Amino acid sequence: MCGIVGYLGPLNPKDVIMQGLKKLEYRGYDSAGLAILQDGNTKLVKATGKLQALEDRIKNETWTGHVGIGHTRWATHGVPSERNAHPHKVHGITLVHNGIIENYHEIKEGLLARGAQIASDTDSELVAHLVAEEFERVKDLKTAVERVLPKLVGAFSIVVLCEQSPNELIAFKDGPPLVVGLGKNENFVASDVQALIKYTQEFIYLNDREIVKLLADKVQLFSSHGVPIERKSVTLNWSPELTEKQGFAHFMLKEIHEQPRTVATAVQTHLCGDRVVLNRVGFLDKNYFEHRDSIDVEKDWENTQRILQGIERVFIIACGTSFYAGNIAKYFIEKIAQLPVEIDIASEFRYRDPVVPKNSLVMTISQSGETADTLAAIRLAKERGATTLSLCNVKNSSIDRFADGHLYMNAGPEIGVASTKAFTATIAMLNVFALGLGQIRKTLSPDEEKNFVMSLRSVPSKMEVVLSYDKYFLAAANSLKDFRGFLFMGRGTNFPIAMEGALKLKELAYLHAEGYAAGEMKHGPIALIDERMAVVMVAPRDSYFEKTVSNIEEVKARGGYIISLGSGDDHALKRISKMYLPIPSSDWLTNPILFVIPLQLMAYHLSSVLGYDVDQPRNLAKSVTVE
Ligand code: F6R
Repeated sequence: MCGIVGYLGPLNPKDVIMQGLKKLEYRGYDSAGLAILQDGNTKLVKATGKLQALEDRIKNETWTGHVGIGHTRWATHGVPSERNAHPHKVHGITLVHNGIIENYHEIKEGLLARGAQIASDTDSELVAHLVAEEFERVKDLKTAVERVLPKLVGAFSIVVLCEQSPNELIAFKDGPPLVVGLGKNENFVASDVQALIKYTQEFIYLNDREIVKLLADKVQLFSSHGVPIERKSVTLNWSPELTEKQGFAHFMLKEIHEQPRTVATAVQTHLCGDRVVLNRVGFLDKNYFEHRDSIDVEKDWENTQRILQGIERVFIIACGTSFYAGNIAKYFIEKIAQLPVEIDIASEFRYRDPVVPKNSLVMTISQSGETADTLAAIRLAKERGATTLSLCNVKNSSIDRFADGHLYMNAGPEIGVASTKAFTATIAMLNVFALGLGQIRKTLSPDEEKNFVMSLRSVPSKMEVVLSYDKYFLAAANSLKDFRGFLFMGRGTNFPIAMEGALKLKELAYLHAEGYAAGEMKHGPIALIDERMAVVMVAPRDSYFEKTVSNIEEVKARGGYIISLGSGDDHALKRISKMYLPIPSSDWLTNPILFVIPLQLMAYHLSSVLGYDVDQPRNLAKSVTVE
């Protein structure tokens, strides 16, 4: 939530900052601003609404200067407005902030008592006042920040610019991510590497309670007490095109179409002939992040087997779409590896005083690796003695770095706010994980494993087929545009898929939709059904099929409008549904990967037909770094 960029160097800071903010707009888009130092004076411009409004406002500015900061906002304290937009300037100090200052009231009272003039409703401006007060005393920006840090409670990452010290930027964080980009006679800081890969591939990730001093030719890292820290940089090999739309109308559509490739990439490092190998997990390896790419695969695999053999219970913890993926894993792991699995929403787990028995594995799922509740949940799990495993998309993210073991979605940057390719890559990885566990625990025969591996290898080409049916999904979306109530239903692994379909519709088309286990229909939701209610049934030919068909008959008898999704040319479903959407036949393990695609596309088309902003739905932000 909120995106930050800072730059020092010979390029025009306005251009670098605006380029960076464009890549970070997914993190917040209710207002934006930038500040540039020119001849010792701060040029500060803000605008409400999307970044385009700021761009329009500054397009004729011909600033010079060599240092600046910018921000794109997702409001926490104070409504979206120009007054509350960042950067916030107090005397010569200007800063941008991502996160929440929880002791806001206390700080504000203190500042007011000392005569401060507070111009906005934000918590962020208060930090600018504190830094300005300390700078007045110590006349050194880093020392001033060091003195402010202990006064702040909450989750924050902050970059500060100072008129009296124009050759440096000071950044610090406790919570939301901040990464330093290293260049030649230029340096950068941002919330996410995506903002900077056009300029550099070399990064230093900041840990919590660290301060970084950026000069154009040098970067120095310090603890919160000012003790210098040495840290090696990490080189990424990302091409800037990964963060472009590449001819698609929206990032979401591009990401939906990337899925056959991203699923294949996610699983390929873990498939070896007819077998699954849970290698490169780096369980309890202290130097994992230094030698991840050259890890001793054999040794790592032995270590993983030893650790997983001792596991007696699995917890899966996540939020939103990642939580629905986790729900599917419960079916996979319980059936294949015969281990009990508990699923939790991270914000519930962290505050519930959960019982985590000895020999538990706690797995968190997070595309961003920065979700505040998921991070807090994995911390709690570790405190309670669990072995932790993270499944992330963003490598080196906070959750990834905190966990004992590491698995990756490897889906590449996901920019559309609604998650799509990370979801299918997650399910594919959860397939792999369940098979690996089954193999290690000997609950899976080599023949079964071989068949599942074959199915995983063939799923990308079946996904291509699903994508080629998009005209049917568009027609389905068009037929739904006048409905105001939607029920998505399925049984078994199709139940979480139904929940995910409903979530996509809610967040993209702002339509009320519920995802239900079809077996629960008679326990309440059936009362909603009449000719104004659209029902989407996820009904592949699996062991639940006959029961799901009975549910469809019950909806039909009450006049509900039924769209069903089934395996291949399913005459039974065609006969009883208003509209039937065929999906290539597969097995129960890989069906969820195929069946979610039409639901993603239907939500996409409905959102477009209704004229909404697909990539940046209202009130949402991609990375939820505050609870
Ligand atoms: C929905 C969506 C969200 C995220 C959730 C968790 O399309 O994207 O529900 O899944 O905010 O985010 P991560 O996976 O980054 O922890």
